Amino acid sequence: MIRAKVVGVGAYAPKRVLTNQELERMVKTSDQWIVERTGIRERRIAAEGEVTSDLAAHAARQALARAGVQAEEVDLIVCGTTSPDMLFPSTACFVQSHIGASRGIAAFDVSAACSGFLYALDAADKYIRSGASKKALVIGVDLFSKIVDWKDRNTCVLFGDGAGAVVLSAEKGKRGILSTHIHADGHYWKTLYTPLSLCSSPLHDKTPERSYMKMQGNELFKVAVRTMGEACQEALDHNGLRAEDISLLIPHQANMRIIKATAERLGLPEEKVYINLDRYGNTSAGSIPLALDEAVKKDMIKKGDIILFVAFGGGLTWASAIVRW
Ligand code: ACO
Repeated sequence: MIRAKVVGVGAYAPKRVLTNQELERMVKTSDQWIVERTGIRERRIAAEGEVTSDLAAHAARQALARAGVQAEEVDLIVCGTTSPDMLFPSTACFVQSHIGASRGIAAFDVSAACSGFLYALDAADKYIRSGASKKALVIGVDLFSKIVDWKDRNTCVLFGDGAGAVVLSAEKGKRGILSTHIHADGHYWKTLYTPLSLCSSPLHDKTPERSYMKMQGNELFKVAVRTMGEACQEALDHNGLRAEDISLLIPHQANMRIIKATAERLGLPEEKVYINLDRYGNTSAGSIPLALDEAVKKDMIKKGDIILFVAFGGGLTWASAIVRW
């Protein structure tokens, strides 16, 4: 059976660190509030002029180098992002150009907010299983520092910029992506959105105002805990696995309390849950591959390990995946 095997992982976060102490000087908040309610201590912020595709290309190059795969060998680029450089071209097309991937391959973005990486992984896995792709580059990246209102303490303390990427190779055997599961419920769209509206034409309307992210944190919190738990269980059931079979859970890093509730629901001990939220905040689609990259670098993942990924984000969207490493 042909599976999508993860043969390389890479990540990139901008150099600039923004601490909770600095945020105390920007909005009415405190390090104590942020740490207690979210678990976040600092986050990375892109430099002036540094754009989403730059972060993505850094992560992609690293993943390719670790995989020993040349950019020209990639036949598919799928990029999960909701903060692209431009409305079009897609970030995937910019990455194709930045890394020197072959002309004429397939390259497209997937918009699923914080679930973006798992949505992109789901798409690439299906291309590989169908035989349409042999080597795919899957990226999760977001640069929310450009859509966050830095005067709104409800949102600005939560987010950071970051990217991660994996190279998937079509290979026979038992290792690779076992399953992916993606879901959405647009009825909840108002709980998290960025109102950059293209619904009206400038021919008829005044100039659109600057659009910042809007969030109903409390409502999101409840849905996140429920859907992330359900998505984990769905992935386990689909593969006939139990929580004890999981070597490592890599959840979307939005809030420490959401992560802990998800792990508790599964009965997973702390050491089986990867957390780097304290140092990066919520990097949206970047968060899972950024955490995966760290776990790989720390040698926490061994051949044959069962890794469970789960995410939740604006849309609303949620997703899970299981990989046999
Ligand atoms: N500093 C100090 N006080 C604050 C801050 C802040 N940064 N932000 C809010 N508060 C205040 C509120 O104004 C409120 O004050 P009030 O009681 O006087 O009205 C109080 O703190 C409590 O606010 P709550 O919203 O009830 O706090 P809660 O415990 O729910 O935590 C949080 C808020 C952290 C946002 C939480 O609800 C959460 O994490 N929700 C999920 C958010 C999330 O995951 N978003 C991303 C989704 S993924 C994606 O797609 C991008």
